[in-house]
Amino acid sequence: MTAATMDFAISPTSRPLPAAEREAVLKEPGFGQTFTDHMVTLRWSAERGWHDGRLEPYGAFTLEPATSVFHYGQALFEGMKAYRRPDGAVTLFRPDANAARFNASARRMAMPELPPEIFVKAVELLVAHDRAWVPEGAGRSLYLRPFMIATDPSLGFTHPSRTFLFCVVASPATAYFGGGTPRPLSVWLSTNYTRAVRGGTGYAKTGGNYAGAFAAGLEATAHGCDQVVWLDAEEHRWAEEMGGMNLFFVHARPGGRPRLTTPPLTGTLLPGITRDSLLTLAPKLGYDAVESPVSIDQWREECASGELTEVFACGTAAVIAPVGTVKSENGQWTVSDGEPGPVTLRLRRELLGIQHGSAPDPEGWVHHV
Ligand code: PLP
Ligand code: COI
Repeated sequence: MTAATMDFAISPTSRPLPAAEREAVLKEPGFGQTFTDHMVTLRWSAERGWHDGRLEPYGAFTLEPATSVFHYGQALFEGMKAYRRPDGAVTLFRPDANAARFNASARRMAMPELPPEIFVKAVELLVAHDRAWVPEGAGRSLYLRPFMIATDPSLGFTHPSRTFLFCVVASPATAYFGGGTPRPLSVWLSTNYTRAVRGGTGYAKTGGNYAGAFAAGLEATAHGCDQVVWLDAEEHRWAEEMGGMNLFFVHARPGGRPRLTTPPLTGTLLPGITRDSLLTLAPKLGYDAVESPVSIDQWREECASGELTEVFACGTAAVIAPVGTVKSENGQWTVSDGEPGPVTLRLRRELLGIQHGSAPDPEGWVHHV
């Protein structure tokens, strides 16, 4: 099936949120709390493939208690954003990359792939209908959450579900850690828990990876930290990523080009689209950028020696968030003076500029709706 042959039945809500209430939400949207007037749904069955595409009022699903996803967690999701440009136009950022990752996750979870053009068409349809919900202003956006769940009303475990529901919902958002100059994060190096192992589901954006992370998140909170840094499963020695963000390490290298290092995609971490975009952008801004393992010993020692000057996390929801303090069972340290560094802030400014349309887009990442 192609996008041209997939028609979505359009049944808009007769009761959109009144404009004054919507505007009040858009002033201080927070993250993932309020949803727009509509959603897009699409069904898949072994007999019919993808069918029954709809744009309909945002609302509850009716699912039997035996529905497969409630028991076996066969589910995946994406995270992406629509941005309002200074001229009022609305754009997406690299939606084709989200479509490709959605299908990589689907293959790992034995779920049906969705043709990328249908994925993008479904997202565009929702954004076009709810474009009044795309907030204005730096750091604000409409967060889009395409997802897929297994819907067989069966406890059978001998084969994957034979029916699935794909859905896209949208929620106005400020950057996950607030707008403006980002507050430095404190992070907890988790050695009691492991997020992903080789051959597991770490690279897939499946709900179970996030369900398994909450306990470590509580441990981080108990130690006064904002976020967990996941380490490799075998040695608990190599930094991998954070709960919803990838990691970059910056060496200022006085007299030379600053170098950015991000852990390689070993299959245990999510291949972030922000990560990939920064690897492309960094050399154009005069930085070297490499994918290479970083150990927590190196992190601590090179912060002490002053060689490692900045660390930041990046992702769709978070944009770019500096890491200020690091805590572990073996003590704590700060990255430089604990404040956001110049490379972090420049990359953040450049990326937001491309996404919000105030900077050129040489890579063709911006997609008009
Ligand atoms: N790592 C994890 C576990 C995530 O959930 C996310 C967010 O989607 C990321 C990294 C960053 O990915 P992206 O830049 O595509 O949002
Ligand atoms: C995103 O950045 O889109 C994420 O999925 C991270 C988090 C909200 C789970």
